[in-house]
Amino acid sequence: MNSWKKTIKFSVNNKERKRLSMKITDLLIEYRDNPIGLDVKKPRFSWKLISNEKDVLQTAYRIIVTKEGEIVWNSGKCDSSSSVLIEYAGQELEKCSIYKVQVEVWDNKGNQASKTGTFETGLLKGKNFVADWITHSFSEEETACPVFFKEFELKKEVAKARVYASALGVYEIKINGEKVGDTFFAPGWTNYKKRIQYQTYQVDEMLKEKNKIEITVGNGWYKGILGFTCTPNHYGDRVAAIAEIHITYTDGTTEIIKTDKNWSVTTGSIRKSEIYMGETIDTTFLATEPRKVVQLPYDKELLTGQESEPVRITKRLPAKELITTPKGEKVIDFGQNIAGFVELKVKGEKGQKITIRHAETLDKDGNFYPDTLRQAISIDEFICNGQEQTFMPHFTFHGFRYIAIEGLENIELENFTACVLHTDMKQTGTFKTSNPLVNQLQSNIEWSQRGNFLDIPTDCPQRDERLGWTGDAQVFSGTATYNFNCALFFTKWLRDLATEQTEEFGVPHVVPNILGNQEGAAAWGDAAVIIPWVVYQTYGDIRILEEQYESMKGWVDYITSRCGSNGLWQTGFQYGDWLALDKEEGSEDRTGATDKYLVANAYYAYSTKILVETAKIIQKIDDAQKYENLYKKIKRAFNEEYITKTGRMVSETQTACILALHFDLAEEQYRERIMETLKRNIAEHKNHLTTGFVGTPYLCHVLSENGAHDLAGTIFMKEDYPSWLYAVKKGATTIWERWNSILPSGDFDESGMNSLNHYAYGSIGEWMYRKLAGINQIEPGYKKILIKPMFIKGIHSVEATFDSMYGKIKSAWSCKDNKIIVNVEIPANTTAIIYLPEKTEPVEIGSGSYHWEYATDTNLELARFSMDSTLKEILDEPLAIQLLNQHAPEMLDHPMIQFAYQLTLSEIVAMAPSESGQLFKIVIDALNKAGENH
Ligand code: BGC
Repeated sequence: MNSWKKTIKFSVNNKERKRLSMKITDLLIEYRDNPIGLDVKKPRFSWKLISNEKDVLQTAYRIIVTKEGEIVWNSGKCDSSSSVLIEYAGQELEKCSIYKVQVEVWDNKGNQASKTGTFETGLLKGKNFVADWITHSFSEEETACPVFFKEFELKKEVAKARVYASALGVYEIKINGEKVGDTFFAPGWTNYKKRIQYQTYQVDEMLKEKNKIEITVGNGWYKGILGFTCTPNHYGDRVAAIAEIHITYTDGTTEIIKTDKNWSVTTGSIRKSEIYMGETIDTTFLATEPRKVVQLPYDKELLTGQESEPVRITKRLPAKELITTPKGEKVIDFGQNIAGFVELKVKGEKGQKITIRHAETLDKDGNFYPDTLRQAISIDEFICNGQEQTFMPHFTFHGFRYIAIEGLENIELENFTACVLHTDMKQTGTFKTSNPLVNQLQSNIEWSQRGNFLDIPTDCPQRDERLGWTGDAQVFSGTATYNFNCALFFTKWLRDLATEQTEEFGVPHVVPNILGNQEGAAAWGDAAVIIPWVVYQTYGDIRILEEQYESMKGWVDYITSRCGSNGLWQTGFQYGDWLALDKEEGSEDRTGATDKYLVANAYYAYSTKILVETAKIIQKIDDAQKYENLYKKIKRAFNEEYITKTGRMVSETQTACILALHFDLAEEQYRERIMETLKRNIAEHKNHLTTGFVGTPYLCHVLSENGAHDLAGTIFMKEDYPSWLYAVKKGATTIWERWNSILPSGDFDESGMNSLNHYAYGSIGEWMYRKLAGINQIEPGYKKILIKPMFIKGIHSVEATFDSMYGKIKSAWSCKDNKIIVNVEIPANTTAIIYLPEKTEPVEIGSGSYHWEYATDTNLELARFSMDSTLKEILDEPLAIQLLNQHAPEMLDHPMIQFAYQLTLSEIVAMAPSESGQLFKIVIDALNKAGENH
């Protein structure tokens, strides 16, 4: 063995050894690994380099694409460091063909590496479908899912077989009784009147001599009950299917088996299924007498290959605990709020019905509490056939952590598994700290993303909504793209958005739009502009800007068309700072206290600015100039209307200040005053936030970027209501819709709108990655990286990674026992600037792993006393009395002093002369120091 190793070692010559020190990993084609069914005319290639050397940069690449051995594109050796999203520029691609891709790269260290991959085109155009749409003639009352089927024989040996299929509804295909593929909810949700995705499946191994293909179609989003009105038939009242099997035999001949008038239809064990309501599977049911199918004239040009990753079961969670509630319900806890369904293994009596109800939570008495689901009753029923069986629904999903079971005597935990379902995006971010509550928060954010990225970005996965609310997706997109690769997910959904957008109504509030025409609203409609920008910034994807440009422009133009003579948008419906806490108590209005049109115009300016940048990038020079002028006009008008001549915001809420600062709307000379207003407002709320959907994503950014990072840390680390960690301490495993979805008393918010899995407030995640871990892009797509971690009290170490298009970026730091340690990893073919904490000069580095270690006096333990201590708590310390008497003797003698005992120091500072702030800081420091010395 040893000698063998040696031989290898000596047989590698110097040149080869060099070559081996650099490798290509992850050759991705349109963000995917060897994709099939690709309907992209010019696919883009990306790869990552890994190397055991430092400062590695790619100097050249060559891409060769072949089809059946023939070269269809040879890029030639390009002297370029580009390795992300390089566009195919060869011969026109042919449908249903396999292409081989070979990438060769050279680096600045004299290394060379290559990697191969493949992609397979789909039908490329919907009208290339030769199959017919087929439907059924069952009565309107029939709730069972139709099963379209055909039997066929194959006489020759199969070399390659693909199924291209879609449905109006959601479908599942079986060949010879076995499920085709491992995906769910195909063809996904689009506006089926405008576009429909089809899927491609590899079925080479599934075909035999005698075959039966079955396509079961559930109502899904097409025909099913949807929206808070719980009405069916949003797109049509009859589900349908289309499919064709393309077979290539080993002798080179081909054959297509396709849906047409010769197929039959029956119903099977799925007796009813609705996304909101659940599914009933009766395995005692024997199929109904088959009927002939009905051909359906439906435009095949609407069909387009699947654009994002499909929905899959990505995790299977074991049951944690069996509970008998005070009311006597038999309940299983899976320990995690998810979107998905339960798989049950059981051997019941023939005809035995087992019912599974779903809920996100128990109430404070420990009883099952399905009320957050509203009218979405989410009940699955399984009827046994007397055999050993495994049940799992097909066309429904639920938002739940708990299930209540009826109809089963012996409940054994190992027979129940919670299947987590969502779009199968690759996880790209990890974030861990020394603080368990913060780690749980990160986990909650990730889980809310999993729960709500199910084909489209939804507000929540459990109640009678689950809609593609544009505002929610917009505010969360910056965080989403850290946690998971969302490039394809958003590409698909933004196409949906563009197809639903109109000149008259702008961008709908939900996409796909099942709510009908409503005038566009700020922060919601701005998804059209902000999300493409986020995707571009994260992945360096210029195509999404090109593709969405008309939609981006359309949204800005829509707003302009609503503006008055002062150039501002001040008419029509707005969501304002949705769910903000600063509205008067008891008010039914959920739009917060910030002037709604201030919010609207802040976004108008922000989106216009992004549009200007986009126009420059995609070289729309005239537009860039036009919108630059518009932007200046909006900014001027905004200042005139919403900021006084002395720099005072007319609406002095947290969110108003945040928007003026974060969107860079306030004139330079007013920024300081606005910052002071923001800090005062925060102090008046005992250092708590009051922000809603609009202010929350930016609050901590604004503080960190404007000299108040400590305050950002204080707000972030709060554990009482309202705060992120309040929910964590209340046992949340996902992000809640409201800051007080569960009240301190344990009661629930009863507004009728209380989801426990709603990612909007998870938008703090972006700040955690950017500020606490310090991972930022200087150039779009992270070709140039900025690492700038910022400490906060209460966290003494952070370790985060982000798997960029170039490879893994890592930022890890710890600050304890008088020592700072920083570990950084920078992927090959990128460079970075590092701002080491407490060092003044930045360090410029190339790729590789780096380690720094140096001394510090900083102690990040949360101190016993802070500006959030009450005056009473401070005055209980003799040292404080001594210091206050020494520096401000008149203060403690003030006749009103006892009225301030219960106020926090920051509240007092907000009311008192500004020197009091300095003084309290001296006192706090002294008290904390004295504490440390004991
Ligand atoms: C949804 C939201 C959404 C909002 C807008 C709610 O019902 O759950 O998150 O953005 O409506 O009004």
